[in-house]
Amino acid sequence: MRAGKFITLEGGEGVGKTTSLDFIQAHLEAKGIDLVLTREPGGTPFAEKIRTVLLDPSSEKVAVDTELLLMFASRAQHLAELIKPSIAEGRWVICSRFTDSTYAYQGGGRGVDFERIRALENWVHGDFQPDLTLYFDLPVEVGMARAKARGHLDRIEQENVDFFERVRAAYLQRAKESRRYRIIDASQSIENVQKQLSDTLNSIS
Ligand SMILES: Nc1ncnc2c1ncn2[C@@H]1O[C@H](COP(=O)(O)OP(=O)(O)OP(=O)(O)O)[C@@H](O)[C@H]1O
Ligand SMILES: [Mg+2]
Repeated sequence: MRAGKFITLEGGEGVGKTTSLDFIQAHLEAKGIDLVLTREPGGTPFAEKIRTVLLDPSSEKVAVDTELLLMFASRAQHLAELIKPSIAEGRWVICSRFTDSTYAYQGGGRGVDFERIRALENWVHGDFQPDLTLYFDLPVEVGMARAKARGHLDRIEQENVDFFERVRAAYLQRAKESRRYRIIDASQSIENVQKQLSDTLNSIS
């Protein structure tokens, strides 16, 4: 059995993942849980360098396989140097985005065959899966408006509405098929989102 837990936050652009991190941190720390907050792509100094390359809007056209492989390269680093050692020490790792994002964005969004993604998933983390995945669901236009209001858009955020509709559809499909998913209605007020989060977290801690 694992010492700590691994919780991932998933969803499209501007759904409130980053906004919710402070609340999740306060909620779990109040229970005496030792936490690590992290994100993908990135999470370690080397993986953050890969993130910078991945999200740079000024780069040449990036081939789908290049993007996919870099996502998993950064993930391999993150798992080896931060996620797995932290969990082994008994800490809980709260990670904004993980392999479900790859299925949603590179799979749903870019059209990579899910079986290809599954092969890389098996290679990089095998049976190692999140204990809980909080999926923040929001209509695409609302999320895009929130993300735009927040500031400049990175390379992936510059995709069109159809792309993000496919991302959302892929997430919803996975949520239906997986028992570790909990759907958070992110169209609600921040207070209501926090209520949904605390109810869900109380059920596992
Ligand atoms: N429930 C909410 N109602 C209204 N606005 C919200 C809500 N939650 C977050 N916001 C606002 O929406 C914007 C986007 O939120 P946030 O940055 O947390 O999203 P994100 O999921 O981290 O996005 P990204 O995937 O782009 O990192 C922020 O300006 C935030 O203040
Ligand atoms: Mg964010």
